Amino acid sequence: MSTPSPSTPQAAVAPAQHRTVLLNEAVDALWDEAEGPQPDGIYVDATFGRGGHSRLILSKLGPQARLLALDRDPEAIAHATQGEGAITDPRFRIEHAAFSSWADVVAGLGWGPVQGILMDIGVSSPQIDTPGRGFSFRFDAPLDMRMDTTQGESAADFIARASVDEITEVIRTYGEERFAWPIAKALVALRDEGKSVRTTGELSAVVARTVKTREAGQDPATRTFQALRIQVNRELGELEDALDAALRMLAPGGRLVVISFHSLEDRIVKTFIAKHSREEVDRRVPFAEPKALMLNAVARIKPSEAEVSGNPRSRSAVLRVAERTDVPWSLELAGTEPDRRRAKKVVERKAASPRPGAKSAGKPAGKSSGKGGRW
Ligand SMILES: C[S@@+](CC[C@H](N)C(=O)[O-])C[C@H]1O[C@@H](n2cnc3c(N)ncnc32)[C@H](O)[C@@H]1O
Repeated sequence: MSTPSPSTPQAAVAPAQHRTVLLNEAVDALWDEAEGPQPDGIYVDATFGRGGHSRLILSKLGPQARLLALDRDPEAIAHATQGEGAITDPRFRIEHAAFSSWADVVAGLGWGPVQGILMDIGVSSPQIDTPGRGFSFRFDAPLDMRMDTTQGESAADFIARASVDEITEVIRTYGEERFAWPIAKALVALRDEGKSVRTTGELSAVVARTVKTREAGQDPATRTFQALRIQVNRELGELEDALDAALRMLAPGGRLVVISFHSLEDRIVKTFIAKHSREEVDRRVPFAEPKALMLNAVARIKPSEAEVSGNPRSRSAVLRVAERTDVPWSLELAGTEPDRRRAKKVVERKAASPRPGAKSAGKPAGKSSGKGGRW
């Protein structure tokens, strides 16, 4: 994790603005309304974007509090650290990192536990509206779609190497596209003829030829573009890992605030909060000890009509809020695969070299956050 060079080719041609969605609602959800932010609390904005939420959070925090921001997009980091939009507030620090690793970044800094984490997931307007990023079928450009342009496989590279079955699975699952198989077949047929799809325009043309029935008001390529974006950025896995981390890195009473923009993401958030906040009665064991719950569900908020009419991109947003109970984190309670793996490593490491005064086993062993941070 290090602050990347801001000189990506798109940085110079990115005039697009981002209008922050559910700005006040999301920031106010980070703390109890009556109590306000904790004076020396640590807060995390896991999706800095253009910093709309971060700036409002900073305006509400006391002088002893701190805000850690993350983004996997080098342009977002450049925006936070350079030029007119730079944030020079000494309580602020930003790291170039995927939010799946947020708890490790916090631990690596020696910070934590955290009083509130905000995730405003998905793409930002500058990402969609900058032609060269390849997120939109509205412009003809290289088919990239990576949020983190410093690493990983682009959408074009995925199409160039994946099988018909893999492409079908991605487009069907992440795009909920009925014509996933014919689209995948057409893409691979072109590749076999030596005409691999490398641009957004070429992909749109293939989809337009293959998808026979158009949904009213929707470009036929919408679902395929969404699916490839989710695949390239591992968006759902990122979200699951970040939610799991909240169980061990949020302080008792700490808030988890997530804004999602489509049903696949919202289902993950909703199911996660329900799993950790609702008592499940096992009829086979009627007198079993009640399960210790790690979260309380606090709220579900949609944008107001006024917000949607001023910013149509907000219309699909759903904000969910949960609060960490004071039940200590434990392997059994977490019960999720990434947590199990991480906890196992911590336990093994502690067994190999017990340190006097070491902190609880439930806390992850942090790794260095690199040199990218900045106060
Ligand atoms: C909707 S925008 C956030 C906008 C921000 N709240 C604001 O007010 O400007 C989403 C941002 O999250 C970043 N992002 C998406 N997935 C991410 C991930 N897994 N890890 C880190 N950043 C991510 C994107 O690069 C993008 O900048």
